[in-house]
Amino acid sequence: MVAPALAAAAMAGCGGGVGDRDAPRDVAPLKGLDPQRFVGVAVQGGLLADHGYAQLVGSVFDAVTPENELKWDVTEPERGKFEFAKADGIVDFAREHGMRVRGHTLVWHNQNPQWLTHGSFSRTQLIAIMRDHIRAVMAHYKGRIGEWDVVNEAVDDTGKLRDTPWLRGIGPEYIPMAFRFAHEADPSAKLFYNDYGTERTGPKADGVYGLVQSLLAAKAPLDGVGFQTHVDAKPPPDYEATLRKFAALGVDVELTEVDVRVPDGSGAAALRAQAEQYARLVAGCRAVARCRGIVVWGLDDKDSWVPAAYRGFGDATLFDADLKPKPAYDAVRKALMGG
Ligand code: G3I
Repeated sequence: MVAPALAAAAMAGCGGGVGDRDAPRDVAPLKGLDPQRFVGVAVQGGLLADHGYAQLVGSVFDAVTPENELKWDVTEPERGKFEFAKADGIVDFAREHGMRVRGHTLVWHNQNPQWLTHGSFSRTQLIAIMRDHIRAVMAHYKGRIGEWDVVNEAVDDTGKLRDTPWLRGIGPEYIPMAFRFAHEADPSAKLFYNDYGTERTGPKADGVYGLVQSLLAAKAPLDGVGFQTHVDAKPPPDYEATLRKFAALGVDVELTEVDVRVPDGSGAAALRAQAEQYARLVAGCRAVARCRGIVVWGLDDKDSWVPAAYRGFGDATLFDADLKPKPAYDAVRKALMGG
């Protein structure tokens, strides 16, 4: 018999070509190994119909992030018309398995619906659109999603505010506004700024640090900073010091989208280097008291976004395409237990 959440997720029709794999029986979980930190995974709702996939997600981790199902193009495909079936399937699955949910993401420049990207709106209208979206989505999940990436990737690679429709249409105030709207919608939710390339020193991390400082100075209701951490196997320069520096501002930090890509066809040595990198990332988080959780971006190598985005790279997750744990999995387990 198929559990209700699985049936709901399958009926929601997320993704095509879902296989039905067997999960290995003897995979020791990651959840609970470090009582101070949750260990999560980004989930594609449609794949919960694959029993092996669902079994591993539900038994190994204690948190999920819907990979695409809470993005604006899915949740508000027409203005004022909200669609939650796809994300509901994942949130129901999480509840049935006692898992927490990270909400990703409310305000971003990607994966927005046509009506928003092609519309022509005044500043006042755009503020109302953003406010109404945040309100509706957070109200639907109030009490069920405890933390949100309110604003995603608002800083460009040089450290300046990214040139997006939000910046052009509203101005830099769109960021503190989004946090205030989110706090009004669910005062008990923890609110995060989330970005990539911030886990290493450089102009990007400096830009995000400046943004966080300015949000805190303006008393915006910001609780944490998400470090996406899409990396290769080379140690990110000053990684732990960077987490520590942000935490010292008085916010939580989390690794929100971890994957470690390796060159295609590179064999055992690359998988060992990948395992070392995963261990390093987990150890760095554990060394910083305010680093509260680690989320891997995708369960297994078959369904990861990496090969499509980085030509010649892949195999970036903890499980191979047959759902067998890789050396990185054992490395993460050991690191969560203290080394
Ligand atoms: O929804 C359409 C579907 O209708 C269509 O049939 C199908 C055909 O290709 O495409 C579907 O959209 C895809 C979407 O994922 C949902 O599956 C897009 O092509 C695809 O580009 C999109 O990729 C996602 C990517 O964000 C896009 O921005 C990845 O799955 C997702 O892992 C990735 O996640 C982002 C985080 O949100 C933010 N940080 C970076 C991270 C990696 O890019």
